[in-house]
Amino acid sequence: MAESFSIQTLPAAKTERYETLLTEINAVLDGEDNRVARMATVAAMLAAAFESFYWTGFYMVDANRPNELVIGPYQGTLGCLRIAFGRGVCGTAAATRQTVIVADVEAFPDHIACDSRSRSEIVIPVFDAKGELIAVLDVDSTELATFNDDDKVGLEAIVRNAFAN
Ligand code: SME
Repeated sequence: MAESFSIQTLPAAKTERYETLLTEINAVLDGEDNRVARMATVAAMLAAAFESFYWTGFYMVDANRPNELVIGPYQGTLGCLRIAFGRGVCGTAAATRQTVIVADVEAFPDHIACDSRSRSEIVIPVFDAKGELIAVLDVDSTELATFNDDDKVGLEAIVRNAFAN
């Protein structure tokens, strides 16, 4: 399964691509209970599946500092190491427990520019099986308005299956 995974074998349409990815990610994660291993796998498979995903990764809730996110597994250019709850797009998603879609990061007050090439962004809160927030999934694109409700639905389903089951 993992060996045969490639962008060429995925459907072209976004909704179907997310559905196929969900199945493929679940198959690769089967039997693995280490959370960092699961996050690293999800980040790698998402980054490989969409050319528009310039930065793809997790900021984890820091067990020692519960109102702070700390960098987790990611694919892309160097990310900021820490983000306080309520700061930037990631901190907003963490504080509100809601997915945030930003069509133009320059129009988002308090956006944190880890990489100035990022132009639009989606951040999904990640919960464990008890409903506790454990992380956020951040995906950045170098194009404006890359993400819409199809990405929200697709990514929320992937993190729900990977971390809340
Ligand atoms: N732009 C994010 C920070 C994380 S990076 O882009 C990798 C934010 O405003 O939360």
